[in-house]
Amino acid sequence: MSAARSRAARDLFVGFKPQATLGDWLRGVEKLYAKAGATLGQVAASAHDEALYLLLRTLELPLDSDESVLKKKLTAAERTKVETVFRRRLVEHVPAGYLTHEAWLGEHRFYVDERVIIPRSYFLEIIPEQLDGWLPDPKKVTHVVDVCTGSGCLAILLAKHFPKAAVDAVDLSPEALEVAAINVKAHRLGKRVTLHRSDVFAAVPAVKYDVILSNPPYEPSEHCDALPAEFKREPRLALDGGGDGLDIIRKLLRQARTRLQPHGIVMIEVGGLRAVMDREFAALDLHWLHTGDGSDCVCVVNAARLKNWRG
Ligand SMILES: C[S@@+](CC[C@H](N)C(=O)[O-])C[C@H]1O[C@@H](n2cnc3c(N)ncnc32)[C@H](O)[C@@H]1O
Repeated sequence: MSAARSRAARDLFVGFKPQATLGDWLRGVEKLYAKAGATLGQVAASAHDEALYLLLRTLELPLDSDESVLKKKLTAAERTKVETVFRRRLVEHVPAGYLTHEAWLGEHRFYVDERVIIPRSYFLEIIPEQLDGWLPDPKKVTHVVDVCTGSGCLAILLAKHFPKAAVDAVDLSPEALEVAAINVKAHRLGKRVTLHRSDVFAAVPAVKYDVILSNPPYEPSEHCDALPAEFKREPRLALDGGGDGLDIIRKLLRQARTRLQPHGIVMIEVGGLRAVMDREFAALDLHWLHTGDGSDCVCVVNAARLKNWRG
């Protein structure tokens, strides 16, 4: 640790009183987020929400505790635990999810560590709200694939949404697949979710899917070089989509042509690449799905359109 960082770690909680309550800690730590230049967005959108989450988790209190929990006084041992966690979060810039080893998509909990990106996909809202509308008969869906599965979170959401479907979950990273295996087991889906180590579809058995879904790496490489410290702690392979961000997406769309049922669809989350996608894949006439925050960054394309595409 550099001298400046050691000093910052030592001085972080100067002014915090020994008799402080959990509410005092929450208010104090919240202010430290801005001072420390901590970046949010992986686990929570506000310093308040993330600090409260970390406090409750560190003190092993229920996440749905009511307000009265804020009056709790911390013991000396609890203060030490809390200080250690927030030093790692605010001085070392370790993302909260890697400190607690969990991430939540809605009510679904997933194990995470540095081998995978922390789940935060828009498919959490798209799968239950919009996916079925693109299928002739959602009850008859038998084969679904999550390409670029990381922690396995979206494959697991798909398996829950389509209770009769076989779900393939594909990733190039063997380390990510180790984490996916932990989650598949924890959600008791080992009989229906199959993990594949593959560069997109290269090593996946020839199956025709009803749904191909992907939240691929899509950051242009230059953006990855400039990311805040918290995001640089995530695997580069999970973020870097090559020069223009489209490397994996191009590959996926080309390979998807031979992997879809005639009624099948491809859905891809693309972050800030919507305009780039519309230019690059104009012939596909991509349809953009509405998302709650208005970013509308998930596109859908059907098998018929893909089949006639010369890309
Ligand atoms: C943005 S993360 C998405 C993870 C997960 N689906 C989620 O939403 O949290 C992208 C994942 O793609 C994987 N990946 C990168 N290149 C790949 C490739 N060529 N083929 C398959 N997976 C790849 C990375 O290892 C990473 O786990």
